[in-house]
Amino acid sequence: MNQLQKQDPGLPCTPRLIRSDEREEQERYARCVAELVRAKEAETNRPVFCYLQTFGCQQNESDSEKLAGMAEAMGYRLTEEPEQADLIVVNTCAVREHAEKRALSITGQYKHLKDRKPSLVIAVCGCMVSQEKNLEKFRRSCPYVGIAFGTTFLYRFPEILYRHLCDGKRIFLSDAGSPGNLAEGIPVRRSSPHSAYVSIMYGCNNFCTYCIVPFVRGRERSRTPEAILAEIRSLAGQGYREITLLGQNVNSYGRDLPEPTDFPALLEQICSVPGDFLLHFMTSHPKDASERLFDVMASQRKIAHHLHLPVQSGSDRILAAMNRHYTSGSYLETVGKLRKRIPDIVLSTDLIVGFPTETEEDFECTLSLMREVRFDSVFSFLFSPRQGTPAAEMDGQVSESVKRERMKRLLDLQEEISLSRNQDLVGSVFPVLVEGISKTDSTTYTGRTEGGKLVHFRAGEGEDPTGRILPVRITKACPHNLIGEPVSE
Ligand code: SAM
Ligand code: SF4
Ligand code: F3S
Repeated sequence: MNQLQKQDPGLPCTPRLIRSDEREEQERYARCVAELVRAKEAETNRPVFCYLQTFGCQQNESDSEKLAGMAEAMGYRLTEEPEQADLIVVNTCAVREHAEKRALSITGQYKHLKDRKPSLVIAVCGCMVSQEKNLEKFRRSCPYVGIAFGTTFLYRFPEILYRHLCDGKRIFLSDAGSPGNLAEGIPVRRSSPHSAYVSIMYGCNNFCTYCIVPFVRGRERSRTPEAILAEIRSLAGQGYREITLLGQNVNSYGRDLPEPTDFPALLEQICSVPGDFLLHFMTSHPKDASERLFDVMASQRKIAHHLHLPVQSGSDRILAAMNRHYTSGSYLETVGKLRKRIPDIVLSTDLIVGFPTETEEDFECTLSLMREVRFDSVFSFLFSPRQGTPAAEMDGQVSESVKRERMKRLLDLQEEISLSRNQDLVGSVFPVLVEGISKTDSTTYTGRTEGGKLVHFRAGEGEDPTGRILPVRITKACPHNLIGEPVSE
């Protein structure tokens, strides 16, 4: 039986593949929890519920689908109501201070639920508690949190929960210094019946100077093509229409495998899986986005004409200080090669505003790159110093007021560009995967084009088109979405 020990920060930097006997051990723990859950159901004469709250990126959403799968295997029913829950799991993100503050504050709000229902178990996991300092923060300031574990321990959720349920002792496990695990075969409860995430690799080796991810997610580790293809076959067989491959830098996929392969080769293999599905992937690091990748994207019908290619800044000096290994010139060249092969590519990016020492001139370089590339959409972030990363210690930190003023100018410019790019689409017909009824208007459906653009349209009387791909003519453009009408098929 494994001992729940704190990981040794001096661990070798080789990620650990979880063996099948370790997985079976977790399945045994899951059955033991299920027995406790059944006993509680019999005692209380009601179902036992788990509520999951997720912060952060798609990688965390995908992890939460595994937490949900494990919770179901342990007999819990999933609920959208924290008040109803017997188990609350908060899956945290550490990428910016704001995300950490929200996780702490939301967890704090669950204290009163624990006061009312002392048997409630509150668990905190994910990137934030992968760091010792945050684990300590939760341990000291949230005595109502019974369990906390970093990303390395995700596959051991049944064991951790079982031990806590047996003796009520608090269990706090950080994975400081761990290179990370690679676990296959964890049950998954997908949140959509049409779109699915598939992680093809975990962790990151790039150490951009602002970023905490390599510290909380460990080193890059790729799943084998066989494991990925088996998952894709199963999803295609179940009728999933959209599959998004996930990794912090999918372009370095396979480099760590005993039989090295690469991302374009993996894409080709996935595209040969029978089924009517569209492939997206994220994130691509510009330094590794190759012409071979673009050739495969152009030649494979199943790959969406969409690329998320985070540039972060338009200033070469700042890009060097960020350790990004490309220049604005080489980025523009990459975009040129991509657009030559796929003229209708939908291009999105990430930008950081106010990196240390960023001057007005550096910021102008970012605006000028935006004007030149004309991204379809931009995810922009105020630089947030992350303790332990080089950028947090750099001289020349930019004041919050300057960051905010620059952010406003950046958003104003992107609003103009996004609107003008969307206006170019008015009159065209696009296949749209219908996601469901709009959250704000019950007479309108929402869906996405192949490039990921949000489209609202009124469906005709009759059958609900959710989950289908409908041809929709764009009638109006807004900066963040399109309005359309279905055309007969
Ligand atoms: N691996 C991806 C890449 O290299 O582009 C991105 C991963 S990160 C989870 C998503 C985005 O968060 C980054 O592209 C960056 O723009 C932003 N980000 C990361 N660290 C940040 C920080 N300290 N402050 C502000 N934004 C940050
Ligand atoms: Fe962070 Fe850079 Fe890795 Fe992306 S590539 S996760 S920004 S360190
Ligand atoms: Fe994602 Fe946040 Fe972790 S962005 S990888 S959940 S630090």
